Amino acid sequence: MMDNPGFMHVSWGQRYALGVLIWSVLVCLSMLWNLRQEEQSVVEMATVATRANIQKDIGFRKWVASHGGVYVGPTGHTPPNPYLEVPDRDVLTNTGKALTLMNPAYVLREMQTDFPDNYGTKSRITSIKPLNPANAPDEWEAKALRSFEQGSREFVEIQEIDGQSYLRMMEPFIVEQGCLKCHAHQGYKVGDVRGGIGSSVPLERFYLHRGEHNINVLLSYGAIWLIGLAALGVSYRRDIRMSAARRQAQQKLHQQLDELLRFQKLTVGRELRMKELVEENAAMHNQLDSAKHGGMRP
Ligand code: HEC
Repeated sequence: MMDNPGFMHVSWGQRYALGVLIWSVLVCLSMLWNLRQEEQSVVEMATVATRANIQKDIGFRKWVASHGGVYVGPTGHTPPNPYLEVPDRDVLTNTGKALTLMNPAYVLREMQTDFPDNYGTKSRITSIKPLNPANAPDEWEAKALRSFEQGSREFVEIQEIDGQSYLRMMEPFIVEQGCLKCHAHQGYKVGDVRGGIGSSVPLERFYLHRGEHNINVLLSYGAIWLIGLAALGVSYRRDIRMSAARRQAQQKLHQQLDELLRFQKLTVGRELRMKELVEENAAMHNQLDSAKHGGMRP
């Protein structure tokens, strides 16, 4: 008869190899999940930081708009804005000092180009109907602006620019009363989407601590994995030892059983023999008795 190679015949070694495999896969999956979580939290962090940045720009811009623009002394770097068509764009003070009016978009553009932050954030104001052609949207910005017109209030995407990952975010500029001083002639009303402000932040900066974090994750998961392996190893050795002991005990039991059977057979044989002897004895007695009586009577 052939030996059945089914599960019942799997050796201890194979069973434990399977255990090691399952344990390794579990640890691996859990680690990958952890690393993915970290990736997501980096994106979340970048989103929050970029949103804060945009909110600050919007706040500053609103301040300028609330004053209907601000007057500064014109320079070669800050000339009168050719796209700004309002009376009193250029004025002279009582003492004869020349001033030019800066509209909010102009102020913000100058601030963003002259004082960029340390993080490589790039911000830009744009519109589907720009007064200044330099504010025309790129493809991504146009997509975001169209989504604002559909009612969305934030547009975020991760984009590759020159081989670097950027988080790009845009928020809409909604027309308020103060904007109409300069934008009414384009046909805008209060509540319309005038355009948007977009920021892009290189994600690299948020990944600064990623290497460190990943090493920590690898080390701790490595340790957990090794502890699991050690526990498996210990129980493997114990099982091997116990199964050997069990085998020995079984063998011993078998031997003792055999012995007992043999002994039983012997004793049973002996008892039978005794019974026979007793019976023979009794029969002989009977014969003797009858012989005795028979000899006396006649
Ligand atoms: C003092 C005039 C003035 C006021 C007030 C003003 N803007 Fe502008 N805005 C301009 C001018 C001029 C430009 C275009 C030239 C430039 O880029 O500086 C412009 C540009 C923009 C742009 C960029 C796209 C483009 O058309 O070039 C947006 C978006 C914008 N304004 C929105 C607003 C909103 C929203 C308000 C109100 C909260 C507002 N503006 C208030 C004068 C003004």
